[in-house]
Amino acid sequence: MSQIPQAVRERADTLHQQLDDANYQYYVEDDPRITDAEYDALLRELQSLEAEHPELKTPDSPTQRVGAAPAERFEEVTHAVPMLSLDNAFDDAELAAFVKRVADKLECDGDTLAFCCEPKLDGLAVALVYENGRLVQGATRGDGRTGEDVTLNLRTLRSIPLKVMGKEYPDLFEVRGEVYMRHSGFEALNARARENGDKVFANPRNAAAGSLRQLDSKIAAQRPLEFCAYQLVSRENKSLANIDAPHSEQMKWLKSWGFRISPLLDVVKGERGVIDFCHRLGEQRNGLDYDIDGAVIKVDSLRDQRELGFVSRAPRWAIAYKYPAQEQTTTLNDVVFQVGRVGTLTPVAKLEPVRVAGVTVANATLHNMDEIERLGVRIGDTVIVRRAGDVIPQIVGVVESQRPATTRAIEMPEHCPVCGSQTERLEGEVAARCSGGLFCPAQRKEALKHFASRRALDIDGLGEKLIDLLVEREWVKTPADLFRLEAERLAELPRLAEKSANNLVNALEAAKHTTLARFIYAIGIREVGEATAASLARHFGSLQALSEASLEALEAVEDVGPVVARHIHTFFRQPHNQETLEDLQGVGVTWEEVEIAGRPQPLAGQTWVLTGTLESMTRDDGKARLQALGAKVSGSVSKKTAGVVAGEAAGSKLEKAQNLGVEVIDEREFLQRLAHWESASSEDAQPTAPEDTP
Ligand code: IVH
Repeated sequence: MSQIPQAVRERADTLHQQLDDANYQYYVEDDPRITDAEYDALLRELQSLEAEHPELKTPDSPTQRVGAAPAERFEEVTHAVPMLSLDNAFDDAELAAFVKRVADKLECDGDTLAFCCEPKLDGLAVALVYENGRLVQGATRGDGRTGEDVTLNLRTLRSIPLKVMGKEYPDLFEVRGEVYMRHSGFEALNARARENGDKVFANPRNAAAGSLRQLDSKIAAQRPLEFCAYQLVSRENKSLANIDAPHSEQMKWLKSWGFRISPLLDVVKGERGVIDFCHRLGEQRNGLDYDIDGAVIKVDSLRDQRELGFVSRAPRWAIAYKYPAQEQTTTLNDVVFQVGRVGTLTPVAKLEPVRVAGVTVANATLHNMDEIERLGVRIGDTVIVRRAGDVIPQIVGVVESQRPATTRAIEMPEHCPVCGSQTERLEGEVAARCSGGLFCPAQRKEALKHFASRRALDIDGLGEKLIDLLVEREWVKTPADLFRLEAERLAELPRLAEKSANNLVNALEAAKHTTLARFIYAIGIREVGEATAASLARHFGSLQALSEASLEALEAVEDVGPVVARHIHTFFRQPHNQETLEDLQGVGVTWEEVEIAGRPQPLAGQTWVLTGTLESMTRDDGKARLQALGAKVSGSVSKKTAGVVAGEAAGSKLEKAQNLGVEVIDEREFLQRLAHWESASSEDAQPTAPEDTP
């Protein structure tokens, strides 16, 4: 066994602690203190230390959450304490009856009885067993008596501590809780699936269930699953003095051991308190980033819980209050096609209006033709509509048993419903699009809305309705036309008084002065979001340089892959786009000069790799400095790598570089070269391109 230097061991411990803390801040406290990129950088550093010194790789290391070899099947697990279900209450009267039943049985005053109230997360119940503070087993609920051993999958959840925090915990205990997926994670997962032609999940619960039962934990590791604890089941206790503390107190212990508990949990008194909680939570429900299907009300005292006991499969001391369902059935009356900013045709379902989770739904998205095919839905069908929180209402299924004889197939129109241009479906794309470009008023409207939006040119007072009107009256055809609008004429528009017409003209004037990054984002190149626009601005420094960049030069930019590079390249080679850009500059749109503009880039076209720990700077700093010199910085070594900077404790990348004969330099050499390259890059610095700011 190789001797691990003390400094390396200490660094690994620090990284381990920092990563655990970051998980706790993010998942338990809802208070992230470091960015995802910083987290990844720490994780990579720990991974490389562990690669160099495998003895550092303990089972509870944060690097061990990436999944293991696929399993053939899941083992069966018998729950030491059965996992029961709950009785339901559907209205205030049933809640009041529950409180009365409990008080009668305990022969106490219901008004003073304490209840712990929690949201009922809509996911899957799991049981986690900890021995001496370490996670040893995680299982699904199954039929309540036996479940499946999904430990490998559960270990990949960053909200599940592999080792509990603190010192005061029982030697053997079980934590139960819900595994669920947030709406944001769910939508990102489905968007990715749609792009890759993979299975799309109907709702976050199904997505969570499907992910948790993945035999390949490497796949589970990529699914945005989270865990929230709701019960401590103590099996053996040598260190906790009062295991009979109230349930709400035990939830606080769980939090101190590193488990997420619901931030909405509350202890209330009597019938009034319980009913108020359920109503309050019902009002918050739609604003949450995850699905809840009700509230769980529990008698807080464990002694009272024991006295109350169970009836058949459910405890007498708890009840689930159920909210109205988030899914309903209705008729699909028609499908229309909406045209987006780059011409994408999106099918929108026109529904017989139906109330779902408190809101009337008449439209729902069908995403694209593949989705329609997957659902097998036809016009006239009875469909299942789902609406949760801010999620756009969706059609998640068809009730085929109720299909009338008169249904019609949904067909992609051959002509754009707005401008009549031919529609086309490009090779490898799921979406069909209108070929009309900016000739199509729908695309024009969307392009203008994007151009004026807050993160683009941020034109105050230029809302969607107004843009629709301006395009319909043909006062505005291109973004530059916006800046030619006059207050007098604008005041003619309905609902736009003289004062707001003046304000709008002033806002347009103010918006003319922007930044290069915002401008690049605003012009609406396909797949160039805010972050990519910022990288492009930083990298090229001027619109001129960007518009002339070759495909290779574009691909050298952080975040830009071959597809995006092609979109950018094509965009600048369209004469009408060039005209638009010139026109915009002609009406006075200007931006700040970007620092690197015009600077020579001695490392342009080169790919560098940083590995190990640098003494004098963080790896991110090193990376930024290389990028500023034009280099691309990659996470892996290949034949094409120009050089590898190997810091302290560099691992497998160093080895690979040596095998491939790629040049490796140490930190001292790196600093010398940086100094040399950076001076070369600033001495010859040319004045920033004046043509950018006419
Ligand atoms: S307590 C014996 N608390 O609801 C009582 N359950 O029908 C054990 N659930 O399968 C359950 N949120 O998956 C409890 N805060 C919460 C819950 C909750 C969701 C689920 C759980 C269980 C089902 C009970």
